Amino acid sequence: MIDFHIHILPGIDDGSQNWDETMKLARQSAEFGITHLVATPHGSGENLAMLLPKRDQLIMELRQRLQEEQIPLTVLPGLEYSADGHSSDSALATPECRCGNPDVQNRPMLVELPFTVNLDFAANLLFNAQIKNVTLILAHPERYDGFLKKIDFLKDLMDKGLYLQFNSNNFKGGFLHNSIPKAILKLIEYAKEQVIIGSDAHHPEYRPAGLLDARKRITDAFGKDAWTLISHDTPAQLLGIK
Ligand SMILES: [Fe+2]
Repeated sequence: MIDFHIHILPGIDDGSQNWDETMKLARQSAEFGITHLVATPHGSGENLAMLLPKRDQLIMELRQRLQEEQIPLTVLPGLEYSADGHSSDSALATPECRCGNPDVQNRPMLVELPFTVNLDFAANLLFNAQIKNVTLILAHPERYDGFLKKIDFLKDLMDKGLYLQFNSNNFKGGFLHNSIPKAILKLIEYAKEQVIIGSDAHHPEYRPAGLLDARKRITDAFGKDAWTLISHDTPAQLLGIK
């Protein structure tokens, strides 16, 4: 399984704050059966010049610690780019802002929308990404205002090539708020091969790693093969993992 969205690197954003939390998130991931994760710190136009070298340095250190502790996890560089509308053109043109190892061609970019813009902005971003030949993944569309009213809009963007990354914990639902997981499952049913999952883990206790809720709901709804497609085959293809 591949976790495509996790804030595991210490002290770089609002995710893990130290190596202890980082290694706990790593152990949680490995124990769940994750083999690869994409380290996706928050980044935006203002801080990219500082953030990207720091990310790469922390990834090197994390790989070394994983090896020392014999935790079987492969960590790939990534970014959760916050598209503010001003800098997205230069971010789209910067390969280091994309997800996956640098030697892989056509790496995708994971983008979140600031809460000040609405989901419609994703259409502009997709258009701009496609002009630059970049595959675009929209991070956790289910978290934005108006998501439930935008299902057809998102299907239309999927038709145009957008990938959707859902957060595992948003599959949980419950008595009062089952509408979000149901809408997510509808989008998955629409184009299973354009969906990937992330934990969006920030902290080993408050926002832990693993993909438990997504695995349960997707396996129940569509079977084990669909879960393999969504949790492994599609992200592996996007990341150039053989
Ligand atoms: Fe995130």
